[in-house]
Amino acid sequence: MATQRTLSIIKPDAVAKNAIGEIYTRFEKAGLKIVAAKMMHLSREKAEGFYAEHKERPFFGDLVGFMISGPVMVQTLEGEDAIAKNRDLMGATNPKEAEPGTIRADFAESIDANAVHGSDAPASAEREIAYFFTNDEICPR
Ligand code: PPS
Repeated sequence: MATQRTLSIIKPDAVAKNAIGEIYTRFEKAGLKIVAAKMMHLSREKAEGFYAEHKERPFFGDLVGFMISGPVMVQTLEGEDAIAKNRDLMGATNPKEAEPGTIRADFAESIDANAVHGSDAPASAEREIAYFFTNDEICPR
């Protein structure tokens, strides 16, 4: 498996819990390098654009409202099989179904506030990284 990049967001609930450092440690211990990062308080427009593919889903308004409720930490992760590796670290979307020891099992309260986002495929990773970072904000190492 080649080196990949993926887009990760630590959501407002996990930022509010002061869990950025613990989550970064999990990325790094799994061999994922943080090659770009920024803390942002998303505007409604930015959050709606990010989740545009879900705009017809019943939870869209709640999801956007949650994502703009406080600051988020956005990062590009790089490493071998980075997309699947990050999804494994995150655990299932619904924390009640997440494997013990995953980020969502340990930090998320509910499916509405589930601590982290991670790209689910190479095409979405490319699009999502470009949504938040310019090329010169990414520092391969
Ligand atoms: S997937 O893999 O994209 O199909 O995942 P999916 O389960 O469809 O969820 C897409 C994003 O919506 C979030 N989500 C929810 N938010 C609020 N309420 C409910 N009920 C809900 N269900 C799903 C889910 O966390 C996904 O957001 P991200 O940021 O990708 O985790």
